[in-house]
Amino acid sequence: MATELAKGVYWVGVTDWGIRRFHGYELSVHRGTTYNSYLIRDEKTVVVDTVWGPHSAEFIERIREVVDPASIDYVVANHAEPDHSGSLPALLKLCPKATVVVSRAGATSFPGHYHEKWNFRPVKTGDRIGIGANELVFVEAPLLHWPDSMFTYLTGQGILMPNDAFGQHYATAYRFNDLVVEQELYEEALKYYANILTPFSDRVTKKIEELLALNLPVNMIAPSHGVIWRKDPLQIVKKYQEWAAQKPEPTAVIVYDTMWNATERMAKAIGEGLAESGIGNKVFHAAASDTNDLVTEMFKSKLLVIGSCTHNSGVLPSLTPVLEEIHGMKFKNKVAAAFGSYGWSGEGVARIENQLKEAGLPIVKEGLKVKWQPGDADLAQCRAYGRDLAGAVRS
Ligand code: FEO
Repeated sequence: MATELAKGVYWVGVTDWGIRRFHGYELSVHRGTTYNSYLIRDEKTVVVDTVWGPHSAEFIERIREVVDPASIDYVVANHAEPDHSGSLPALLKLCPKATVVVSRAGATSFPGHYHEKWNFRPVKTGDRIGIGANELVFVEAPLLHWPDSMFTYLTGQGILMPNDAFGQHYATAYRFNDLVVEQELYEEALKYYANILTPFSDRVTKKIEELLALNLPVNMIAPSHGVIWRKDPLQIVKKYQEWAAQKPEPTAVIVYDTMWNATERMAKAIGEGLAESGIGNKVFHAAASDTNDLVTEMFKSKLLVIGSCTHNSGVLPSLTPVLEEIHGMKFKNKVAAAFGSYGWSGEGVARIENQLKEAGLPIVKEGLKVKWQPGDADLAQCRAYGRDLAGAVRS
C-alpha cells in the first residue's frame, strides 16, 4: 500500500520479493528488491520515477490510493533504465499532458528507449520547478551510474531522491532504515556499491562534495531501490565517501577453479601460508560461487589471488566472468597474483596474470605453477608463496 513518508509525500513503489536475478546481466539479488516511486501532492502533483514495466498495474493502483493519475502534472524521470522508467508508457497514457522532467542526457536516452512524443522538459543542475509551497531542485549526476542519471530534491520536506545512488537491492516489509536489520541493510548497500558504483568511484566522491556544498537540509534520502534513509540519513553518504576512497582491508581473497582438485589444494595451501603470516583470507571455488558476491568480497580485500588449472591452453571457463568483472570494476589500491596446476603446456597462469595486468592490478609475485597433483614439497611451496604474499598485503 501507499506509505506517507512526510506530509504530502508518498511511497508508491513496488516490492519485488521474488526476484533473484536483476538487469540484463543477471546481477544476483538474494533479498529481492524494490522499485521506489514517490508521489508529491502540493499545488501540483508530481511522480518521481516509476517502476519496472511488469509491475505497472500494481504501481498505478498504488497511485490511485492517493490521487487520480489524470491529475499528475509532472513526472520526474531521473534515469531511463527500465527498472525505473518501464511504467512510463502505462502512466503517461493516464496523464498524457504531464510534463516529463529529465536531465539533459535524458532528453536523448528516453526517446531512444520509448520513441514516444511525450512532453519532455530537460533540466540541468541547479534548475528549479515550483510546485506550490515547495520546489523541486535538480542535480545532474552523469555516470552515477548512467549518463542520464539525475538527483531530485524536494524543498520544505528536505527529501533527496537520488535514484540509484544510495540504494540497496533489499525487499522489506518496511520503508525506513530504522525499521530493518542494520546488518542486512549494510550487506546489501555494500554489495550494491561494489557491483554497480565501483567503476565510478571518483565521480561519487566529486558528486558528494558538490552535494554537500549546496548545504541543502536533508531529512531523508529516498533512493529508487530498498529502504529510505530516515534515521541519520547522511550515514549512507559518509559510507559512500569511505567506499569511494577504495581503502581495502588488509586481507586476501583467493578465487580458483579446479578440474581434479590440484589447483584447489594449491588454493588452500596458499591461504594457509597467508594465515600463518597473520593475513585473513577467504577461499572461493569460482564454479560454485555467485560472481556478484565475489565482487563484493574482492572489493573489500587488498589482495586478489586467482587460480586455475590450464585448460585448452587457457583457464577454466568459470573464471571468465570473474576476470571480466575485475577488469570492469577498475579496482584501486589492490594487488594481485596468480597460480594453478598444469599437465602439458601450462599457459593458464600467464593468461590470468595478463588479464589482471590489463585490469590495472600490479602483480606482486610471479605466478606459481605446479605440474600434475601437488606433492608435499609443492604444498610447502604454496604455503611459502602465501607467506610471501602477506608482505604485499601489509605494504
Ligand atoms: Fe536501478 Fe540503473 O537502475
